[in-house]
This record gives sequence, structure tokens and C-alpha cells, in this order.
Amino acid sequence: MASPRLKYLSLGVLVFQTTSLVLTMRYSRTLQAEGPRYLASSAVVVAEVMKILTCVLLVFKEHSYSMRALNSVLRQEIIHKPVETLKLAIPSGIYTLQNNLLYVALSNLDAATYQVTYQLKILTTALFSVSMLGRRLGVYQWLSLLILMAGVALVQWPSDSASEKEAPSAGSQFVGLAAVLVACFSSGFAGVYFEKILKESKQSVWVRNIQLGMFGLVFGLFGMMAYDGERVRESGMFQGYNTITWTVVALQALGGLVIAAVIKYADNILKGFATSLSIILSTLISYFLLQDFDPTSVFFLGAVLVIAATFLYGYEGKPSPNPSRA
Ligand code: C5P
Repeated sequence: MASPRLKYLSLGVLVFQTTSLVLTMRYSRTLQAEGPRYLASSAVVVAEVMKILTCVLLVFKEHSYSMRALNSVLRQEIIHKPVETLKLAIPSGIYTLQNNLLYVALSNLDAATYQVTYQLKILTTALFSVSMLGRRLGVYQWLSLLILMAGVALVQWPSDSASEKEAPSAGSQFVGLAAVLVACFSSGFAGVYFEKILKESKQSVWVRNIQLGMFGLVFGLFGMMAYDGERVRESGMFQGYNTITWTVVALQALGGLVIAAVIKYADNILKGFATSLSIILSTLISYFLLQDFDPTSVFFLGAVLVIAATFLYGYEGKPSPNPSRA
């Protein structure tokens, strides 16, 4: 079993990374953009490259900085085990699909409906953890997941001024809801599938992440050429990049690494708690530092629910005799 130190360290870094990413993205939105905006599809590709390079460095370190050992492990694990490598195409392809579905959902739903329905991924993740990993959850833990879901939904509930937008048509709502529901299932499935691969093999999480990233890079390049091919040919893939863009891309790459570590040393359900707590943290920091948010009583109620759910989940988690449980 993974050491508790690594478990809490990885969860702590995830809270830090998610909070900094949200704050940097909010900050970048308040800046007056000059010239062309950067292409989101290119940011995905650059983040994948950064992730792969960092993972290669981490594998290099794991093998005492020996080039020969690095070369041999990458060959052995990636080239000589094509079936194992291909297994990673599944979560990678699903994540790519999911990122696109969320885009469809956001364009067809109002922000409140989107935020609230996407929290259903907390439950789908738990359902997949139970069915695919044989994890057992007690009544208090299921209850705490329901409270967590309600809490995050309230915390993210937009204030009145933000929701005064034209209501989307019924047809568009249906498309949006369908997209977000499929994304909830894909998020739960891909996360738990990756967890199963990591926990069933002794191979380093960083080697697995290189395999995942390679497919992510291929899918990302296809996506970039399909959506923005013309613009890339005209002004290159780095058009509109500035320091903030590089910071967001680096934080996104760090996110992929930390999520992998959290899935390995903790699990997907605890990841849900860490990201929920960081949503509260980033909102509070944003209130104090950027002053671009007015906390409402709905926000406070949601925050109390999220914190209560976190304690409730841990409360029943400890006495479990089941070793696979968090
Ligand atoms: O919403 P959800 O928690 O499912 O999102 C997970 C995100 O983390 C996806 O965008 C996926 O691309 C990313 N990820 C990653 N590397 C991993 C696991 C997930 O970049 N090893």
C-alpha cells in the first residue's frame, strides 16, 4: 500500500495546483489582451509535450540518472509491450472526447446547469470504483459523497449578475445536458481505468503517464489541425502566447502529473474531495486578492457542506478492514 505521506502530499499538491490554475486563468481574463488570442487547441498540445518531457526526466531520476537504464526501460515498457501501451489509448481517447464534450456542454447550457450537473462525476467515479476496483463504501461515505456533490454545486452557483444571460433553447439544453452526462461517465470511467492500470502493475506511474501522454499528444495534434489548422499554418501554433499563457499551460501540465500521482498514491474519490476544497480556496483567495467575487450565503452554505462531507468521509474510512479502501 502507498505510504500515507505520499498520499497526503499528492492531495496537498493537487489542491495547490488546482487553486493556482483557477486563479491564473481568472487573472488572465482580467488582463486586456493585445493581438491574437492563443489557440486553446495548441495549449493542449504544448501541455502534453511538457508532461511527457517531465515524466522522462522523472524516470531518468528513478534510474539514478543512467541514460542506458532510461533507454532500456522506455524500450522495454513502451515499444516491446505494444498491448500494454495500447491499453493507455483508452483513457487517453476518452479524456480527449471528454474535453470536447465539456466544450459542447458549456456552449449549450447556462453556467449554473453546467456546474451542477457536472458534479455528478463524483458519484459516477464512486460507482466505477466500486464496480471496477471492488472498493467498498459505507453508508456514511455514500452520504458524504451526496453532500459533497450538493456542496460543490452550491459553491459554484453563479451570482445573479452572472446568470442574467439569455436562456438557451430547449433543444440546445438537451444537447448540453446529454454532453455533460456523457462527460460525467467518461470522467469516472477514465479515472478509474487509469487507477486500475496503475495499481495492478508495479511499473512506475511516470512510465504509464508517458504512455498516456503519447496518445494525448497524437489526439491533441489531430484536434489542433482539425479545429485550427488554417490559423496554425498562417501564424504558427504559438501565436498569442505570453507569460500568462505559458504559466497556464505549465500549471495544466503540472495538473496532469499531480492527478496521476493522486490516482496512484490516493484514489479517484479522494481526488474529488481535493478539487472540491480547492474550488472553495480559489474563490476565497480570489475574493481577497482579485476582488472579482462577492461571496453569497449560497457560497457559504456550499462551503460548509463540502467541509462537512470531507470530515464525514474520513470518519467512516478509518476503521475499514478492506485494504483497497482509501
Ligand atoms: O474532470 P476530470 O477530473 O475527469 O478531469 C481529469 C483531467 O485530467 C482530464 O482533462 C485529463 O486530460 C487530465 N489527466 C491527465 N493525466 C492523467 C490523468 C488525467 O492529464 N494521468
